[in-house]
Amino acid sequence: MANIVVFGSQWGDEGKGKIVDMLAEKASAIVRFQGGNNAGHTLVVDGEKCILHLIPSGVLHPGKKCLIGNGVVLDPKVFCEEIDKLAERGLDVSPGRMMISKKTQVIMPYHCVMDSARESTKSDKKKIGTTGRGIGPCYEDKMHRCGIRAADFQNKDLLREKIGKALEEKNVLLKHLYGMEPLDADAVFDEVLPYAERLVPYLGDVSTEIQKINRKGGMVLFEGAQGTHLDIDHGTYPFVTSSNTVTANAATGSGSSPRDLDRIIAIVKAYTTRVGGGPFPTELFDEVGNYLQENGGEFGATTGRRRRCGWLDLVVLRESVRLNGPTELAITKLDVLSGLKELKICTGYKYQDQIIEYPPQEQNGMAYVEPVYETLPGWDEDITAAKSWDDLPLNARKYLERIQELTGVTVGFVSVGPDREQTF
Ligand code: GDP
Ligand code: IMO
Ligand code: MG
Repeated sequence: MANIVVFGSQWGDEGKGKIVDMLAEKASAIVRFQGGNNAGHTLVVDGEKCILHLIPSGVLHPGKKCLIGNGVVLDPKVFCEEIDKLAERGLDVSPGRMMISKKTQVIMPYHCVMDSARESTKSDKKKIGTTGRGIGPCYEDKMHRCGIRAADFQNKDLLREKIGKALEEKNVLLKHLYGMEPLDADAVFDEVLPYAERLVPYLGDVSTEIQKINRKGGMVLFEGAQGTHLDIDHGTYPFVTSSNTVTANAATGSGSSPRDLDRIIAIVKAYTTRVGGGPFPTELFDEVGNYLQENGGEFGATTGRRRRCGWLDLVVLRESVRLNGPTELAITKLDVLSGLKELKICTGYKYQDQIIEYPPQEQNGMAYVEPVYETLPGWDEDITAAKSWDDLPLNARKYLERIQELTGVTVGFVSVGPDREQTF
């Protein structure tokens, strides 16, 4: 059965978790391949809400394997807390069902300290507005080749040695650059050890597991986190996260081949949101922006911050199509647009006296573009009970058709409410 990759096409929070949960019914395994607990993926089943940060969004479906790939950065404490909460709901979170790649990088307490320290020294304009979860510093250590990998939890001496080595450098920065107390290696080791011991039974070879499932004819669902424009290479650098969020990384980040990625689904929020700093050309500072924020319940699922809101940006989507090659689009939160008289779609940017169709590549170039809009008529009807294309008001269908035309990709799914059932 064809594997599926789900990715965010904007700046995150497009509704990936909801769509992954829905698709998980047909999957044998769901795998996270990048990011960490900076993600907040919301699932709503029969009115009951569940927010996942690290565990793949297929976990609510009994019997589906949940895999954490090598491309993820995993905070062991968060992993333990999350599985404990899921166990309280009666879900199976045993090592028979969940697996963490031995190659997964581990977020250590000092990564979170460094993350906050770095942000606190930046001026408001330069703050990235990170989630403070230690994501950037952990990926830095990975690239610096001094990271702690999940397999190191099997060897306490090695773990203690690596913590000591990492702190030699970090303590210089903490003390002399940030004016903070240095961290004690033994204390860090003691803090992490209980979680490390709990994690060991979950360690495995995720790459081989995926291959085994596929050989038996099972489908693997790759769950992206964040969004394309938060990608470390292709996003609005430096206002990005520290991993590749594009679909190609589903292969690298799980130990699969690009040929294992069959269907690719772009999750597209029917408007645009962003949380944290960075340019956002179609951002609205008026009552329409407030309407989207309030009607869409746009608060961060991880940090609770108010999300910035704006019109749908086709320059952003066009770039996402180019970088990710979606076979279909899933449009979410269409219901939130009900009640607006007119809807705007940004079709291009005016930049340095030219109209451009793709984001400028200069650092922070997006901060200097002027969006070019076309206007479409809105609709008044409540569409949250719609079950098919024909149930949608004409203007809602026209809006979706225009998105198809402008992206050249078919709309495969429409989501009209947070519940698993509110999708067709
Ligand atoms: P993710 O990070 O991409 O998984 O998205 P989040 O969970 O952070 O944010 C999406 C929010 O929108 C969550 O609160 C979802 O429950 C909610 N949501 C998803 N799809 C829809 C939809 O079609 N309509 C409405 N009204 N809410 C939705
Ligand atoms: P999901 O998977 C929205 C943003 C942060 C910040 C920047 C860098 O729920 O869509 P980081 O902590 O990663 O170093 O922060 O990226 N960010 C997200 N924004 N949704 C997310 O994940 C995000 N994960 C990180 O707000 O601007
Ligand atoms: Mg989210």
